[in-house]
Amino acid sequence: MNFHQTNFRCEPNEEEATSMANSAGAKSKCKHFLTRRERILLEQSWRKTRKTGADHIGSKIFFMVLTAQPDIKAIFGLEKIPTGRLKYDPRFRQHALVYTKTLDFVIRNLDYPGKLEVYFENLGKRHVAMQGRGFEPGYWETFAECMTQAAVEWEANRQRPTLGAWRNLVISCIISFMRRGFDEENGKKKLYSYNGQGFSSNRARRSVSPYAPSVH
Ligand code: HEM
Repeated sequence: MNFHQTNFRCEPNEEEATSMANSAGAKSKCKHFLTRRERILLEQSWRKTRKTGADHIGSKIFFMVLTAQPDIKAIFGLEKIPTGRLKYDPRFRQHALVYTKTLDFVIRNLDYPGKLEVYFENLGKRHVAMQGRGFEPGYWETFAECMTQAAVEWEANRQRPTLGAWRNLVISCIISFMRRGFDEENGKKKLYSYNGQGFSSNRARRSVSPYAPSVH
């Protein structure tokens, strides 16, 4: 499975960017990364999941991430917690909730691809600072794989088109935009660093939206 960045890039024109900034709810005219059918399937799947306990979703994803890549435990201070105790740890539960809330935010905003793009790029940028705690870019892949696998498990009826839609959402939206934001911010950080001939300045970059919502 290829979890690498897709070519989707929603470049809002000036008018659209302004209208998006003025009204975070404005519908974007850019090409969507999901088909209409995929969006409907995701909304239905999420609605069903909510009824059966959406709290478990973030927990399932986070648990899979930590068991697939145990190095990640240390980033959250969970390295000494035995696997069987993870789900009872407040730090685990807090971050699991962050994932659930993020997914809820995505599903509520499926009709606004430009808004999601800006939101996840910004979130990716914020993860650059987490390299100091041990975050590695390879973890994007870990997350994509685990979330895709978690969807297989929470979709008890195993509807292939729905699973495909979840996979597309993770790969074409969440991870693709987060990775892009992360890479751009990381590059910017490197450009500012001393290169032997002085401190280099940063090139002009695409502006980011100030209205990216918080999932907290
Ligand atoms: C396996 C890959 C990832 C790792 C190791 C990771 C790590 C972290 C860490 C260490 C924090 C700071 C937590 C704290 O101080 O309480 C954080 C915050 C956060 N992460 Fe991640 N993250 C990953 C992927 C993701 C993904 C894919 C999403 C989105 C679905 C996400 C969403 C968030 C959010 C919303 C926050 C809250 C802080 C903020 O808004 O800046 N993370 N992450």
